[in-house]
Amino acid sequence: SMMRDISGVSDLERALGKFMQTKDCIVVPGNTDESSWVKYELGRACLNHMKDHLKDQNTIAVTGGTTIAAVAEALTTDFSNKELLFVPARGGIGTDVKNQANTICEVMAEKTNSNHMVLYVPDQVSENIYEFFKNEPYVFEVLSEIRSANIVIHGIGEALTMAKRRKTSEEDMKKIVEGKAVAEAFGYYFNENGEVVHKVQTIGLQLEDLDKIDTIYAVAGGESKAKAIKAYMKIAPKNTILVTDEAVSKLILKG
Ligand code: BG6
Repeated sequence: SMMRDISGVSDLERALGKFMQTKDCIVVPGNTDESSWVKYELGRACLNHMKDHLKDQNTIAVTGGTTIAAVAEALTTDFSNKELLFVPARGGIGTDVKNQANTICEVMAEKTNSNHMVLYVPDQVSENIYEFFKNEPYVFEVLSEIRSANIVIHGIGEALTMAKRRKTSEEDMKKIVEGKAVAEAFGYYFNENGEVVHKVQTIGLQLEDLDKIDTIYAVAGGESKAKAIKAYMKIAPKNTILVTDEAVSKLILKG
């Protein structure tokens, strides 16, 4: 019955929260790999939770990806009564334009009648170029906003899928494969133990900055992301709220 389904999900949430040792887990019914609307449900679940955790003024840093694009789709004008500023978490690790953090920020701002900032920084450039970029007045401003974000919404990807989707060089691909990467988040690639085996060189939020952020949403579903979610959650800051689906939750708990 419907009631049983609902309590089934909350049991899963409890079990998963305990397994992941994280602040909170939110589980939506279904399997993201099988039905694309489940991504939208992940988005709605994330926003429902976020609604109760907004301050009067919020800076929300977001990553790219199809899942976070679905979070943007699920946003409504209900959020317009709070001050929101959307910023991309990191520069230069966008995939296709539609699912790039910059584009997602723009959509989120539009949907909530609020503001956004963009960060166009190419990856795979030399250290000198980064130093130059960081001191550009506009970039400097975006970077300080990113660092003072109170909310982060990010995706978790399967390592090889992400490496292929990005135009990863042969040399970096080798590091990812030989390092046995299974997960990717924020441009960092992790092995099964959650150790970083490769990192996309770019500016913006760094992994160590996450500890200072009040509320972090990791939004990822689908059985194909089981290893990725498990690995990333091993090192995720304890203030991470995992928003995921039933199918992958069950698979993870099965071990
Ligand atoms: C990206 C994030 O753009 O989305 C990554 O920067 C994440 O960290 C990825 O791995 C996930 O993509 P998707 O399309 O599976 O949601």
